[in-house]
Amino acid sequence: MLADYSPVRIQARNSVVDAHRVDLVLIGARGKVGSAFRRQLGNRQPALLSEANLDLRLLAGFDRRGFAFDTHGIVPESIDEHMPERGADDVERLMSHVGRHGGVRTLVVDCTASDEIADFYPRLLMGGMGIVAANKRANARSLSSYRDLQHAARERGVPYRYETTVGSAIPLLGPLRDLRLRGERVISVQGVLSGSLSYILHRMHEGCLFSAAVAEARALGYTEPDPMEDLRAIDLSRKLLVLAREAGFAMELEDLVIEPFADLDIASDDLIPALQVADAGWKARIASALEQGERWVVLAEASREGGRINLRRVPAHSSFAQLEPGQNLISIRTELQDRMPLCVSGPGAGVEITAAGVLSDVVAAAAHWTRQD
Ligand SMILES: NC(=O)c1ccc[n+]([C@@H]2O[C@H](COP(=O)([O-])OP(=O)(O)OC[C@H]3O[C@@H](n4cnc5c(N)ncnc54)[C@H](OP(=O)(O)O)[C@@H]3O)[C@@H](O)[C@H]2O)c1
Repeated sequence: MLADYSPVRIQARNSVVDAHRVDLVLIGARGKVGSAFRRQLGNRQPALLSEANLDLRLLAGFDRRGFAFDTHGIVPESIDEHMPERGADDVERLMSHVGRHGGVRTLVVDCTASDEIADFYPRLLMGGMGIVAANKRANARSLSSYRDLQHAARERGVPYRYETTVGSAIPLLGPLRDLRLRGERVISVQGVLSGSLSYILHRMHEGCLFSAAVAEARALGYTEPDPMEDLRAIDLSRKLLVLAREAGFAMELEDLVIEPFADLDIASDDLIPALQVADAGWKARIASALEQGERWVVLAEASREGGRINLRRVPAHSSFAQLEPGQNLISIRTELQDRMPLCVSGPGAGVEITAAGVLSDVVAAAAHWTRQD
């Protein structure tokens, strides 16, 4: 049944108030991050209503295979493997429903790694919908398309948040934006930015073979759906590009010099056996570094002059070498924080922590609208 749902009324101290309703459309609803997000949303909905006056309802959830849509709101945990099959015009039907209900705030939560979904962003923002993305594709395209999205969100006054696209849930892009707004010029950013590569290298320094470390990282949900995206540093280059642009550097992908960890053209299913050919070489490289009191790290850095990603040996006692498996560390040098750079660190990958970061973005986006009302 397609009926409108009525506002939730909350008993405040001396009065009854309407909660601020925001409808959520979750894309990638049964993926790793999408599923964790639904669990966390379901757990937090009552508290967000009573403590923050926010009525966050899951209006729809879909992936490539299934589609669920209910104008009354869906219980987030109820989406499972038995979700109804997605029909050819389901997404259009959903979009035209949202378009007809202009007064209701709608936030699209993109938990895919899909270019096809990123293609929708201009239309969503121009249509007055907000976006929260764990998907970094849209911001890692050309500089002009990155700027167009920022401009569309500003022009329409809608939230566009993507904090988890770099450093998972570490507060990084928000603070960078704050630095820019207060006029503090960023000189450079440098860091271990890939939770998956940092995990793989950590395990290799502990004696794990390269191929086994990649298999472990994939099983733990640290890698991209296709781990070659991590090993070729494709995912990391997207992160560095987003980070550099948020730092205020006008950068294109071609401005990055990238040294991949491994560069094979291989289907994801055959990956681990194919990587075994590199096991012996990596074992020797790791042993040689350890003998000389060093460790391998993948460093990503950018400044106004350009950016680079490379595998580097650093002293074992340096901060970049001391990171826990999956940990990220980013150092930001600014005009005012040059001799003593600002450093942020924390888990750079992981399904639950990323979903928590997505939920933070959703709450911040809803609060953005609350302030406008
Ligand atoms: N895992 C992490 O630690 C981490 C950290 C930071 C950011 N992220 C980002 O989070 C995103 C999701 O990662 P994940 O690990 O959850 O991946 P995943 O488990 O592979 O999930 C991807 C989801 O996206 C859906 N999808 C793909 N293309 C689609 C399309 N065209 N239309 C609708 N749905 C589509 C898939 O649906 P089907 O199953 O039907 O194909 C699946 O539900 C990625 O962008 C990743 O970079 C992940």
